[in-house]
Amino acid sequence: MSFLPQEIIRTKRDGGELDPAGIAAFIQGLTDGSVSEGQVAAFAMAVFFRGMSRKEAVALTLSMRDSGEVLSWPELDRPVVDKHSTGGVGDNVSLMLAPIAAACGLAVPMISGRGLGHTGGTLDKMESIPGYTAMPDNALFRKVVGSSGCAIIGQTGNLAPADKRFYGIRDVTATVESVPLITASILSKKLAAGLGALVLDVKCGNGAFMDNPDRANELARSLVEVAVGAGMPTTALVTDMNQPLASAAGNAVEVMNAADFLTGKARDSRLLEVTLALAAEMLVSGGLAATVEEAKKHALAALENGSAAERFNRMVAELGGPKDFLADPDRHLEKAPVVSACLAGEQGYVADYDTRAIGLSVVALGGGRIRPGDPVDHAVGLTQLLPVGTRVEKDTPIAMIHARNADQVAVAEKELRKAIRFADTAGEVAPVILGRHG
Ligand code: URA
Repeated sequence: MSFLPQEIIRTKRDGGELDPAGIAAFIQGLTDGSVSEGQVAAFAMAVFFRGMSRKEAVALTLSMRDSGEVLSWPELDRPVVDKHSTGGVGDNVSLMLAPIAAACGLAVPMISGRGLGHTGGTLDKMESIPGYTAMPDNALFRKVVGSSGCAIIGQTGNLAPADKRFYGIRDVTATVESVPLITASILSKKLAAGLGALVLDVKCGNGAFMDNPDRANELARSLVEVAVGAGMPTTALVTDMNQPLASAAGNAVEVMNAADFLTGKARDSRLLEVTLALAAEMLVSGGLAATVEEAKKHALAALENGSAAERFNRMVAELGGPKDFLADPDRHLEKAPVVSACLAGEQGYVADYDTRAIGLSVVALGGGRIRPGDPVDHAVGLTQLLPVGTRVEKDTPIAMIHARNADQVAVAEKELRKAIRFADTAGEVAPVILGRHG
């Protein structure tokens, strides 16, 4: 009998278990266009309500991986390991983590995404660097991974094309927030990149996809179990996203923050903790350290002795950016015409953030996009955001707003004041690393 998409949808609608061959046929049809948009949407909604067993999720992930090219790295004599974050605000970890891991002896082919909604995208950040080729051809990508040890690029060629169509349909049918669909979407792309191991940063909090620990742990467990089921050793950290991770949010401003971190000029403490913890997971997964403690020491040494900064510089230069970017990043990055301090306006302690609102204020400044494909303004954003627990007086700046004009500053100030709550006493600050899976 030939394959009937409606039978697959019916089985899932009624709570049945799909077999791998049926899932593979559906994904094949989704990729070649023979399964209609309506059928994909109905399938997504059925999965949204009925869920998937781990076995089904592994089959879905593998079918999506196999919908296009699957890379391998036979020319490399190093373990190939990457990190994926589920997305947050002020999350520029990748910009430091990739060169740290490379300096410690891993190969990191980091295929990153663009920002969507309130979250920033690594690719948009890297494109703030003049001349940087975020979409190199395969040959250049491989060359840079080989020589620099890392390359942060956008999705090139034909990796997991099923995800592209599937995600586009989920996005407009209220079916993004399904754990098995998110799992298959993320992992199909990572498996297609030919990784030997993967480390996940599952963000948890009011600036993340998963706003509470139960949901974040559920996603982390699903990601780890499905990845391992698909043959890729994977661990996950669940990390706090109830406040921006870096003190900067935007594109060029987050690159500047990363540059200061790599050169040692300034390092936000929660950002340092997450970066070292993820680096340690990567090094242990790649077999370059026996314990997380030992791995953290290697990672910190790579940061302190400048070898991570050197890797970043080399990657930027090889991908078309300035030859010595980190020598004077400020000279190369575009500046916003107006930079204005937003004052606290009251006394007290920074008690909590509406982190999503902080991300949305960056979008409103033009630093993010409302629809896929919209242009982004690399220069705008926020800097000097204060960590929760900081004491402020009325005239303490709670952030610097980088904007195109005074009207934008006024809007951002209003949004920022709404997004930060002050208290009379310094409350307890939540730890930044909330849990580990794998
Ligand atoms: N990120 C992805 O790549 N896919 C999803 O489904 C959700 C987040």
